[in-house]
Amino acid sequence: MSIEKDYKSLKKLLKNHHQSHILAFWDQLNEGQKQNLLAQIQDLDFAKIDVWIEKFIKNYIPDVIKTDFVPASSYNSTPLGPDQQRKYAEAVKLGRELIATGKVAAFVVAGGQGTRLGFDGPKGNFPISPVKNKTLFQIFAESIAATSKKYQTDCPWYVMTSPLNHDETIEIFRSNNHYGLDKNNVFIFQQGTLPNFSPDGRILLAEKATIACSPDGHGGSIVALHQSGALDDMKRRGIEFMSYWQVDNPLINIFDPLFIGLHALDKAEMSSKALIKAGPKEKVGNFCLVDGRVTVIEYSDLPDELAEKRNPDGSLVFELGSIAIHIINRTFVEKLNADDSSLPLHRAAKKILHIDENGNTVESEGIKLESFVFDALPLASKSIILQTIRSEEFAPTKNATGIDSVETTRQMMITRAANWLESAGVTIPRKPDGSADCLLEIAPSFALEKEDIKEKLNQIPDIKPSDRIYIS
Ligand code: UTP
Repeated sequence: MSIEKDYKSLKKLLKNHHQSHILAFWDQLNEGQKQNLLAQIQDLDFAKIDVWIEKFIKNYIPDVIKTDFVPASSYNSTPLGPDQQRKYAEAVKLGRELIATGKVAAFVVAGGQGTRLGFDGPKGNFPISPVKNKTLFQIFAESIAATSKKYQTDCPWYVMTSPLNHDETIEIFRSNNHYGLDKNNVFIFQQGTLPNFSPDGRILLAEKATIACSPDGHGGSIVALHQSGALDDMKRRGIEFMSYWQVDNPLINIFDPLFIGLHALDKAEMSSKALIKAGPKEKVGNFCLVDGRVTVIEYSDLPDELAEKRNPDGSLVFELGSIAIHIINRTFVEKLNADDSSLPLHRAAKKILHIDENGNTVESEGIKLESFVFDALPLASKSIILQTIRSEEFAPTKNATGIDSVETTRQMMITRAANWLESAGVTIPRKPDGSADCLLEIAPSFALEKEDIKEKLNQIPDIKPSDRIYIS
């Protein structure tokens, strides 16, 4: 079809859906831009878009959160009693076997826009480690390499990007020689996007020939794993489990035998790690049981009186916070795709860069839609939760400064390194407030967990106040 013919039919389509303004700058576009814009319009599913506009914009009523939910139960971070001790030991053994036999893949979601961090480029390329300034991607790659070496296997790594950062991410991996990993074991794929809307339901334009879009949320991973061929690739390799984490958490223990083993022993389809919330209103999702199914209820949706409710021992009734660490079965994701069980969309009112009716770039409040991966939890036939210790596994780099920032993450990396060394018998200089009086970084190749240190004590130098020490 010619451009003009396409233009005419799409113009009619847009008119029927009250989105004619998308072609407002048509006469100012060159042929390439025209073709590009038409292709973007053709990709939009207007039947769905009309429903979203009604539901999330014109007649938006926040979902009524069910009140008949109870806190979810969980495995403690360390076994409680001899029966559990036996089960944990069995789980660790099984987890190790599953890793060693190549049944577990690493899966990081890195398609977000990282607006709060304000870093130019994919967040995974942010330099974070306290001594060597390694990037997040490099830390993960080194952990994966160290795991592959430890278990004498090849652990494949799946990296989800979005159209907004895909090419840059590919280039970062290429120019870093895939951080020493075999590039055939690194599968980088893109998630989808959804258009951005004005508060009155118009699709926004980022430029005269570009529709404003944002990634469809980490829940987009469920469809993207399928559509990209990542699931097929996993099947071909014999992968049964994915270890899922977010790109901004350098403390992640990607291949945790206990977590993998408990998940497999309990025949779960999607499982989660949780931490005990720092307070009633900590901004993490809450693990609950709704109709008997593990469900994450966002902090903003948990009524205050429930958030504040305490057990007789003083602990919070809803104490389990979600940290976006999951084991997900490949077959579970296949099933969700086969059943076309799409995850629900959520609305977020955010500042969006776009052009106004005069073609000038402006930033104004608009609506983004996204799905969340934890909405897959209630769809799993079985789902377990394992508690973890915050200082061991969770340091999200969300902001440039303040809470959950670059600074807090670096400090937590130092704290964990100091704790690991100390528990192996190394003396750590401490400040009066108890924090480590030195900069410390342990290479993943040296230790993936604190137990790895004990065998290598002779390689660790004396650590003096104010030292900067990289242990590799
Ligand atoms: P966040 O919720 O922190 O969002 O993502 P973000 O886009 O990275 O950062 P802000 O909100 O703009 O500051 C949590 C994790 O989910 C991934 C992110 O890359 C991060 O690892 N994510 C988020 C995706 O992969 N895709 C998305 O569409 C959204």
